[in-house]
Amino acid sequence: MAKFDLVVKGGRIGTASDVFTADIGIKDGRITALAESLEDGKVVDATGKLVLPGGIDSHCHFDQPAAPDGSRNADDFYSGTRSAATGGTTTIIPFAQQLKGQSLRAAVSDYHAKAAGKPVIDYAFHLIIADPSQAVLGQELPALIRDGYTSFKVYMTYDDLKLNDRQMLDVMALARREGAMMMVHAENTDCIGWITEKLEQAGRIAPRYHGTSRPNVVEREATHRAISFAELLDTPILLVHVSAKEAIEQIHWAQGRGLRIYGETCPQYLFLSEEDMGPFDGADWHGVKCLCSPPPRDKANQDFVWRGLENGIFSVLSSDHSPYAMDKTGKFASGPKPSFTKVPNGLPGIATRLPLLFSNGVQTGRISIQQFVALTATNHAKLYGLHPKKGTIAIGADADFALWDEAKDVTITAKMLNDNVGYTPYEGMQLKGWPVETWSRGELVVKDGTVVAEAGRGRFLPCDPPQTAIPRGRPVVDPALFA
Ligand code: URP
Ligand code: ZN
Ligand code: ZN
Repeated sequence: MAKFDLVVKGGRIGTASDVFTADIGIKDGRITALAESLEDGKVVDATGKLVLPGGIDSHCHFDQPAAPDGSRNADDFYSGTRSAATGGTTTIIPFAQQLKGQSLRAAVSDYHAKAAGKPVIDYAFHLIIADPSQAVLGQELPALIRDGYTSFKVYMTYDDLKLNDRQMLDVMALARREGAMMMVHAENTDCIGWITEKLEQAGRIAPRYHGTSRPNVVEREATHRAISFAELLDTPILLVHVSAKEAIEQIHWAQGRGLRIYGETCPQYLFLSEEDMGPFDGADWHGVKCLCSPPPRDKANQDFVWRGLENGIFSVLSSDHSPYAMDKTGKFASGPKPSFTKVPNGLPGIATRLPLLFSNGVQTGRISIQQFVALTATNHAKLYGLHPKKGTIAIGADADFALWDEAKDVTITAKMLNDNVGYTPYEGMQLKGWPVETWSRGELVVKDGTVVAEAGRGRFLPCDPPQTAIPRGRPVVDPALFA
């Protein structure tokens, strides 16, 4: 019997710490050897290619409803994972969303049922806590954390999801106690509601006004509030989809105080701006394609987001893939020219996340290959308790990797992304470098843009309590009061 099932030969390997040339030996889906030269197995020729860990996308939404208009995500767990793998991603962490009044366990079962038989790559789940009832806080959430759902998201806005400040403190105390990572969507809901009401009264309803309704300061205030709660209870938290320069400054400030505050940003804040939501006069409604929350900011803001990636304020770049089709199932669920308040929030980007950052970050010298790997794979695994099984090329890790052709010129088109969305906000962008093969646990998933893996081969991954969620041990409030 051959020593290896597969030998990846002659590639330049990149990890979060090193770039080196070596062969990779793979047995039973795991990396079992790294050496100058390996023989005895079926050969994958990686000469002239960069071999990087498969991306981990720790923020994406599949098959979720956007209440109350009946719209739902365009991608399910098959089309969404197909698309992820097309862009070099091999692990996803989407959400199991609790509806208000629903048992959390039931929400988790629902999302497992939605996923059953569909993913082509491996997946874990974050929870969304929309209703922190006694049962959720007392039994369901602690038990689910122990079962491997070790991270959850809370919202400070959206009527059907938001928690008030006391509820935020309740779930944060629980995260500390149980060792879970709490993810926060930080926008001030009352400010948004107040501005939105004034805009609608004035007839300002074009998609572009979505940005007007959620200015930078609204994100900054909520970010500061969440950080203050985290300091009060000495609980590590992660601010998701951070967009505004002022919110980045808050995270930087908190990190400077020694708090365990982590930041995530997304490609839409590097490559899109408020202008992409269309004109104020509503002459063109196509801007709904770029309508998400927080909204794309002004062009000058993009540079601050880049700097946050370059200097380590952000730990991860995720897609926040939350796609809605341009029809009655999605962006136009409430009619042909809806008020921005009726447009489901979110945009697609699961396939384009890695290639956009590689071309515009690594190829331009803004970030190193090591930073690229950390931001797109390794740090996701560390933040959510999947490391070292996922997110790196090392002995013992799952053999999840992509072969990158650094010289390949690619023009992004919606068609090549293998999703179910029908458009991409990045249509026509020219990139240098593309993941030409994506492998998961030693199995080929995508080759030259064609998905070759079967639906349902992806496995569910229970997550460990992450090291990154360990408190630093200096709470303002005596933990005995909330233990
Ligand atoms: O607009 C967005 N980001 N939609 C997805 C849901 C969320 O808040 O992440
Ligand atoms: Zn969010
Ligand atoms: Zn999201």
